[in-house]
Amino acid sequence: MTPLNLDRNTFLRQYWQQKPLVIRQGMTDFEDLISPDELAGLACEEAVESRLIYRKDQQWQAESGPFESYDHLGEKDWSLVVQAADNWAPQVAALTEGFDFLPDWRRDDVMISFATPGGSVGPHVDNYDTFICQGSGTRHWRVGKHGDFKQFSAHETLLHVEPFEAMIDVTLAPGDILYIPPGFPHEGIAVEPSMSFSVGYRTESAKDLFSGLADHLIDHDLANQLLIDPQRPVSTSPGLVDNTDLARIKQHLLSVLQDDELLARFCGAHMSAPKHALDVPETPFDYSEADVHSLLQQQPLYRLGGLRCYYFEQTVANGWFYLNGEECQVDAKLTDTIKNLCDNQILDCDMLSEGLADGAFLSLLTTYVNQGCWYFEE
Ligand code: SIN
Ligand code: CO
Repeated sequence: MTPLNLDRNTFLRQYWQQKPLVIRQGMTDFEDLISPDELAGLACEEAVESRLIYRKDQQWQAESGPFESYDHLGEKDWSLVVQAADNWAPQVAALTEGFDFLPDWRRDDVMISFATPGGSVGPHVDNYDTFICQGSGTRHWRVGKHGDFKQFSAHETLLHVEPFEAMIDVTLAPGDILYIPPGFPHEGIAVEPSMSFSVGYRTESAKDLFSGLADHLIDHDLANQLLIDPQRPVSTSPGLVDNTDLARIKQHLLSVLQDDELLARFCGAHMSAPKHALDVPETPFDYSEADVHSLLQQQPLYRLGGLRCYYFEQTVANGWFYLNGEECQVDAKLTDTIKNLCDNQILDCDMLSEGLADGAFLSLLTTYVNQGCWYFEE
């Protein structure tokens, strides 16, 4: 994937999380990464998340996959949406390389939509950033002002917005990109049969992070120290929890968050946990360590689409990294190997040279290859 035709610094300073942007020909010579037929085939698979959205007698309808047939839908006014298509098609996963100016942990998935003329998912608002990359065909997009919308249920699974005034009103052609931050109402309607590839981002509420942190503390039996209050003054209002006590309770909780190592270890496991099914084999492969070592001398090793693999500045020096919801530990001197493993979707033997000379790392890598987390193309 070639870099996007985009000034990354200007984009991050002026647009990211702030305002939508149309990037005309953001991708040079862009062609569909999979065909509409292949997309329709993916949506027939049990493990793939997909939806059909259409209107029947003026009523919005939404159905969840897997689908058996599309024959009843006709030539117009419907769209098929497949989530986490990067988990199932390597060439779709490769699209994310063009977005490497944003860290992987912020990314959610690549959603692909095919729409027939008039097809749309309807006017709506997302709570995530998205880069909608136009593939074949053209699609007309309108984007309204931030926060300027009223939501309603158009169907039990479709939250739409009332008509909004457009601040962006464009027709995207193949290779164009529309960036939309959270909270801006938008609607895309296919002009002709069209494919779009949306690279979506995610954040988390403090509520969800606290909930995940609580699970982590319980699972690892952490943060058991009790609140203490020596040198307490005489209490004159026994029913009062005074501000000094409230500050003490707050400090007690903050002491957990102030432990950077604990926080990094929790976040690593929490954020690297898969959100969508991964395309791993039911029965592991049986590469030996020698096979992996020698294959790497001849060919690159690819990271499985959708696999989350991160490290932290605090943890890499200890040899820790986070993969698929788990903390992994290798020799502390393998910092370059960990960084290369997590920073690159395609690895070669030079990137892993220190690790390949370490028996424990080679054994771990072989386990990952056998699980299908990294793979050789042939
Ligand atoms: C679509 O591609 O049909 C919808 C994408 C979006 O609005 O987020
Ligand atoms: Co949207």
